[in-house]
Amino acid sequence: MRIEGKNYKTIWFDQNSKNVKIIDQTKLPHEFIIKDLETVDDAINAIKVMEVRGAPLIGATAAFGIVLAIKENNDLNFIKKSAEDLVKARPTAINLQWAIHRMNNKISMIKSENLFDVALNEAGLICNEDETFCEEIGKNGLKLIEEIYKEKKSTINILTHCNAGWLATINWGTATSPIYHAHNKGIPIHIWVDETRPRNQGANLTSYELNEEEIPNTIIADNTGGILMQRGQVDMCIVGTDRTLSNGDVCNKIGTYLKALAANDNNVPFYVALPSSTIDWNLKNSKDIPIEERDPKELSHVDGIIGDKIIDGIQIYPKKSKALNLAFDVTPAKYVTALITERGICEASEDGLKRLFK
Ligand code: MRU
Repeated sequence: MRIEGKNYKTIWFDQNSKNVKIIDQTKLPHEFIIKDLETVDDAINAIKVMEVRGAPLIGATAAFGIVLAIKENNDLNFIKKSAEDLVKARPTAINLQWAIHRMNNKISMIKSENLFDVALNEAGLICNEDETFCEEIGKNGLKLIEEIYKEKKSTINILTHCNAGWLATINWGTATSPIYHAHNKGIPIHIWVDETRPRNQGANLTSYELNEEEIPNTIIADNTGGILMQRGQVDMCIVGTDRTLSNGDVCNKIGTYLKALAANDNNVPFYVALPSSTIDWNLKNSKDIPIEERDPKELSHVDGIIGDKIIDGIQIYPKKSKALNLAFDVTPAKYVTALITERGICEASEDGLKRLFK
């Protein structure tokens, strides 16, 4: 997708330097910086500090992390330890484990002199596949927007939470892909962008990428969605997910659950867009999903810009106050109208998912 009119993907391998290039998302929206990851530790750190984030992109970065580990040292013990450290970088998004598992399977039978090329090829396939899947999610989700537009015949208001945009994937995004497809087809749309405290992925990333694609959008405080739904100002919600269980329970950025409750109370359809790499086929109980708890400083301190000067880490809470920073919550399947996947749209249930993914 575009930044200042130029097409980018979120991650790529640079053949000259043999480094992995990323867009440093901690610097957006005020600075656009492309950063080099030279070592597997750089990849682990990029995931931990959220220079890259969003479930599919975390998975792709982990896959490239294995490539960087092999570049450093193709001893199998080193690669194994690197894989373990990558998996531990962030606990909730299942795409991280999924990508490492896929890379391990691919390289386990390969002779050491070919390891680098095989790993690089597999990481590239993971990225290409994610891009294709997100494009298919867009085509499938477009049908839902078209249905609403056929009835309403005026601007469709879509609410989204966090950033499940192209910056969270390789290209297109998950929740935003139907939005980009509808826009490209000339359907008038307007997006309500949840700010998404504490890290403001909605304001800093979703609104930013929608602006770059010239899609009308308005940032709202996280608590505003409810009244907008009561007033009939939201036609549908589309969000992403970090891990969806085979029973249809959806784990996503903190605050998603409350939006789903409000949508349910107001008969607003609530859709979740995801590639199959985000489905956890093993866990049966959503209480067993590891919910990441991050540094309370993400709540108590804010960054910003005054004129051209970027200001980091301004404390906004009382010095003596404690804060709890849970990064994700779970929306039970009963509040999810449907799942939008690369293979089609299905009910958020074991039967629904199995019908698409035998
Ligand atoms: O903590 P983040 O920014 O990595 O959380 C991201 C989300 O919750 C996204 O909604 C999710 O990963 C889906 S991304 C296509």
